[in-house]
Amino acid sequence: MAGFVTDWLNLAIRWFHVVAAIAWIGESFYFVALDNSLKKPKDAPLAARGVSGELWHVHGGGFYNMQKYMVAPPALPDHLHWSKWPSYTTWMSGFALFTVLYLFAPDTYLIDRNVLDMGPVVAIASALGFLAAGWIVYDALCRVFGSNDRLLGLCVGAYVLAAIWLACHVFAGRAAYLIVGAMLATIMSANVFFVIIPGQRKMVDAMLKRQTPDPIYGKRGKQRSVHNTYFTLPVVFAMLSNHYAMTYAHPYNWAVLALIMLAGALIRQFFVMRHRGEARWYLPASGIALVLVALVWTMPRSVAPQAQAAQASALHVADIAPILQGRCVACHSAHPSLMGSAPAGVVFDTHEQIEQNAQRIYQQAVQLKSMPLGNVTHMTDDERAKLAAWFEAGAQQ
Ligand code: HEC
Repeated sequence: MAGFVTDWLNLAIRWFHVVAAIAWIGESFYFVALDNSLKKPKDAPLAARGVSGELWHVHGGGFYNMQKYMVAPPALPDHLHWSKWPSYTTWMSGFALFTVLYLFAPDTYLIDRNVLDMGPVVAIASALGFLAAGWIVYDALCRVFGSNDRLLGLCVGAYVLAAIWLACHVFAGRAAYLIVGAMLATIMSANVFFVIIPGQRKMVDAMLKRQTPDPIYGKRGKQRSVHNTYFTLPVVFAMLSNHYAMTYAHPYNWAVLALIMLAGALIRQFFVMRHRGEARWYLPASGIALVLVALVWTMPRSVAPQAQAAQASALHVADIAPILQGRCVACHSAHPSLMGSAPAGVVFDTHEQIEQNAQRIYQQAVQLKSMPLGNVTHMTDDERAKLAAWFEAGAQQ
C-alpha cells in the first residue's frame, strides 16, 4: 500500500514539475530570444522615452510590439509582471520529487557500494550537501570573478566538470546524473531568487523614490540569466538520463555526462547567436559530434569470453530463473516487495515472461550492470555470467 501511495505521489508531483518547468524554461527561452532580436527603435520619440530596442511579433492572430527600456521607463506602470513563480514552483516540485524518490529510499537509489560504501544517513546528507554547496560555491565564483564574463564562464564550466566527477564518485550512477542536474537547476532557481528578483526589486524601489536605478543590478541579473540559459539543455538531459542506463552505468560515466552536457551548452549557444542573426553551424555540429563520441564510447562490448568461462554447455530458462527469483523479483513482479508496482512494467514471475524479456535482461544485468538497481539484492558476477551464457546460447527454454 505504501508503495502504491508513493507511485501516485510520484506521478502527481512529476506531472506538476514538468508543467512548471515548461512554463519556466519556455518563458526564459522567449526572453533570451527577444533580448537578442531587439532592433534599435527608428522612431525618435520612442528612443527619447528610453526605449533601447524593440521587436514586432505576429502571434495568435495579433500583432505585438515589445519594447525594452534601458535602464528603466521614465515612470513605473501600474501593472508590472514579475517572472518568478514558474522558477520557484519548478524547484519546489523538483525537490519534492527528489525527496519522495531518492531521499526516501537511499539504499535503492542513492548508494552503490561499488562506487562508495556509505550508510543511508551519510548518503542523504551528501545529496543535500551537494545541492547547497553547489549554489554556495557557484555564487562565490560569481562574486569574485563577476567583472570578467569570459573568465567567470570558464570558472563555472570547470566547476561543473569537477561537480560531475565528484558526484559520479560518490553516488550510484543513476543518482549522480540526477544530482548534478538538480544542482544546476538549484543554481538556476537560486539565481532568480537571490540575485535577479532582489536586483529588480532594488531597481523598482529606486524608481518609486524617483531616483535613477543603479545599472549594476540589471547587469548582474543579466549575467546570471545568461548562465541559466546555458544550463537548460544540460539540466533537461540530466533529468531524462534516468531511463538511459547506457550513459550512467558506463565505467567513465562522469566523462560521458560531461560530453553530453557540453554538447547541450554548445547547441544552446547556437540558438542564442541565431537570435542575433548569426547562424554558426559549427556549434550544433560540434554538439552532435560530442554526442556521437559518447555514443561510440558507450557501445556495448561483447561479454562472450566471460560467458564461455562460466558455462560451456547451454543453459535453459529453468537454470537461470532462480537467479532472477533471488535478485530481481523483489522489484520485477506482479506483487513486488521493494516497489509499489513492477518498474517499467517489467515482470519476471514466469518462464514465459523471462523469455520475452531475454534481450532486456541481458542488456540491463550483463552489459550495463545497471540492474539490480544499486545492486541492492547483491547479484554476483558469476550469476551475471550465467545470464550471459544463457542469452548468448539463444535464450533457450
Ligand atoms: C530495487 C529494485 C530493482 C531490482 C532488484 C531490479 N530492478 Fe530492474 N528496474 C528497477 C527500476 C526502478 C527500473 C526502471 C528504471 C527506469 O525507469 O529506467 C527497472 C527497469 C528494468 C528494466 C527495463 C529497462 C529498460 O528500459 O528496458 C529491465 C529489463 C530490468 N529492470 C531488469 C532487471 C533485472 C534483470 C534485474 C535482476 C537482475 C532487476 N531489474 C532488478 C528496479 C529494480
